[in-house]
Amino acid sequence: MSAILPLYPLENPMPKASADAPIGIFDSGVGGLSVAQEIANYLPNERIIYFADTAHVPYGARDDQNIRELTAHAIEWLYRQGCKIAVVACNTASAFSLDFLREHYGESFPIVGLVPALKPAVLQTKNKVVAVLATPATFRGQLIKDVVHRFAEPSGVEVITVTCLDLVPFVEAGLQSSDACKEALRKVLDPVVARHADYLVLGCTHYPFLKETIQGIYTDQLTLVDSGFAVARQTARILIKNGLLLETARGQEIQLNFYASGHNAHALEPVLKHLIQGKMSWSIHDVI
Ligand code: DGL
Repeated sequence: MSAILPLYPLENPMPKASADAPIGIFDSGVGGLSVAQEIANYLPNERIIYFADTAHVPYGARDDQNIRELTAHAIEWLYRQGCKIAVVACNTASAFSLDFLREHYGESFPIVGLVPALKPAVLQTKNKVVAVLATPATFRGQLIKDVVHRFAEPSGVEVITVTCLDLVPFVEAGLQSSDACKEALRKVLDPVVARHADYLVLGCTHYPFLKETIQGIYTDQLTLVDSGFAVARQTARILIKNGLLLETARGQEIQLNFYASGHNAHALEPVLKHLIQGKMSWSIHDVI
């Protein structure tokens, strides 16, 4: 498989990254910024290079091999930028790519991945019914099947899986509060509530940006969970284990350099202004 992937032979031995190198974060689009913000809050001394594959978003309806190739390309790009670690801040990309990426880069370039946060939902549901909202590709992958098998099945919790391909484009366009987005959410979540699910797992990194809209519709009916904080904690653990955590406070706001593969990254500025909350200084660049 790796022969057709855009991964280049690595230097032997691979150069050791230094703690002051940036953290690389990748998503198909702007959704991974929900994870980037958790990482920024948890590790405020770090710098972040964010790669959004806006030329190919959404990934959710693409086939497995295409998702592998696009993800390999993105992670290779982050590696070549000198990042010390890569976070695949995309459930869809993680579903097909973590094994071969880890095999390729080995321990010198750690890869952090995502899986929908089913465990906390299963532990806390009162109705014993939880729903997972993710892309069709994420549900085809082995990672989600493994967590259902490990956490939901032994505790007898029913897992309802739902997909809606319209949601990622709404977030990419900054239209997450629009009537059309609310209507799309109702169409997919009304049946879930009718089946008495009390927890909704946001199994795509774009969806935390829909939290307010979902809560506005299903105030007391659905408790929302996502993986952002757990990924930030895991990233910190791996950096510490590898001696790569930047301990010294830089005394300034966390800095995020946002790169997009689409034609005009700067056109995303209004969307980013809307999505990036809190203390973070960011700038936009095209990927050449
Ligand atoms: N943020 C991606 C995820 O977590 C979005 C998927 C897509 O591009 O369709 O799955």
